[in-house]
Amino acid sequence: MRPRRICCIGAGYVGGPTMAVIADRCPDLTVTVVDLNAARVAAWNDPDLSRLPVYEPGLDAVVGRCRGRNLFFSTAVEQAIAAADMVFLSVNTPTKTRGLGAGQASDLKWVEASARTVAEAATGHTIVVEKSTLPVRTAEAIQAILGSGRPGQSFSVLSNPEFLAEGTAIRDLEEPDRVLIGGADPEAIEALAAIYARWVPQPRILRTNLWSSELSKLTANAFLAQRISSINSIAAFCEATGADVSEVARAIGADTRIGEKFLQAGPGFGGSCFQKDILNLVYLCRHYGLEEVAAYWEQVVRLNTWQQHRIARLVVTRLFGTVTGKRIGLLGFAFKADTNDTRESPAIRIARDLLEEGAQLQIVDPKVSEQQITRDLGLPPGEGEGSWQLASGVEAAASGADALVLVTEWDVFARIHWPAVVAVMRQPAWLFDARGRADETAARAAGLRVWRIGQG
Ligand code: NAD
Ligand code: UDX
Repeated sequence: MRPRRICCIGAGYVGGPTMAVIADRCPDLTVTVVDLNAARVAAWNDPDLSRLPVYEPGLDAVVGRCRGRNLFFSTAVEQAIAAADMVFLSVNTPTKTRGLGAGQASDLKWVEASARTVAEAATGHTIVVEKSTLPVRTAEAIQAILGSGRPGQSFSVLSNPEFLAEGTAIRDLEEPDRVLIGGADPEAIEALAAIYARWVPQPRILRTNLWSSELSKLTANAFLAQRISSINSIAAFCEATGADVSEVARAIGADTRIGEKFLQAGPGFGGSCFQKDILNLVYLCRHYGLEEVAAYWEQVVRLNTWQQHRIARLVVTRLFGTVTGKRIGLLGFAFKADTNDTRESPAIRIARDLLEEGAQLQIVDPKVSEQQITRDLGLPPGEGEGSWQLASGVEAAASGADALVLVTEWDVFARIHWPAVVAVMRQPAWLFDARGRADETAARAAGLRVWRIGQG
């Protein structure tokens, strides 16, 4: 079984970059990424590679090499499925907003819909690969939807969760720590493994059963998020006691059993995955009657929400207890650097809290558009108390402001020329560095009062 044609349903942050790298590494495979969202597909086909719908360093070059050669973006979903011998499901699986499990369980309606489309359109033997992050045992439901197939159809279902992080997606895809393939059909597993083996060393291609694969993805995200809540909890304790969280992180990270990665204190984790996947884990644990296990993981999310509100509160407190009518520059809006993604960005909660207090926000982000911020805040740009505007740069964000709040760790914010920025601010002026990213010495020398995450 050697796949020749691949179809990926879902041209999002995962489907687009993942398929681009597969097409790049396997020029003999034809890879078609399909989506119902015609505007998104059109953006993937935009001749101007700087306008792809997903911003990821290096993605434009990969797409530029393969698009039109063996990588295609299309809205012709059924046609691409019919031609494919392997179909990836890479659709969104957000938290349910209503009904059973609302606020915790994953909403599987897009997965179910795409599986039904596969059942209708597939021809011959088709390997169906779960690329979306899914609750453990979802493969059972997909198998049931696909059924035994109409005459001439047959299916094998695999789980192949994606571990890429946004901002480093291309590097993560080209040099993954591991690729995980779960399944029950050895032939299908080896067919998928053979694709990755073109550029991933065999020892890094892990094979497990379906349920272990599905659950490993939720567990990996839960462990990573747990580290962030752990270090953020210690950051608050450092601030209360005079310790410095960056020194504590360095000291504990030097222990090879703990390791140095993912110990950067900040405004709380954002992104489309961590919160959603932990809440899903919590929901599943409760479903299986494991209340203590559910409560344990739930606390990781609670601490994260607390951290985001805490940052907004301490800004207000330091600005003499009120920000009503005050200008505050927000440095960054994306949930992390090097992405245009704002899903669950800590900037959203912090901005909303400050707007609620009557602040006038001046927001600057290298990649996030005014339309996106309008959607996220549920408020168009405006003037006066409780309003926001997009600023063209750091100086514009600082203009007339009492404070700057550094929320996203973009490189440009580490290289700010502070004297020029402080000159346009109202005194006494503050820098609240929620990422510990700014040149604190230079900011202080220029006359700013500085609060830095986790610094007592
Ligand atoms: P996304 O929202 O960016 O993209 C999903 C796409 O699927 C959308 O463009 C949507 O229009 C399309 N879609 C939905 N239903 C469809 C259907 N029936 N037919 C055709 N197209 C359909 O989502 P994403 O960030 O790419 O995430 C996809 C999955 O991957 C999720 O399960 C997520 O948890 C998981 N994941 C995401 C990341 C990440 O960094 N974003 C990392 C690892 C795993
Ligand atoms: C995450 C997982 O890392 C990835 O493996 C999975 O496939 C998808 O979810 P992503 O959300 O894209 O990736 O980015 P990640 O680098 O994990 O950052 C998530 C959030 O945690 C960001 O808001 C980031 O700023 C924050 N973070 C990360 C910290 O606050 N401190 C850290 O030390 C690391």
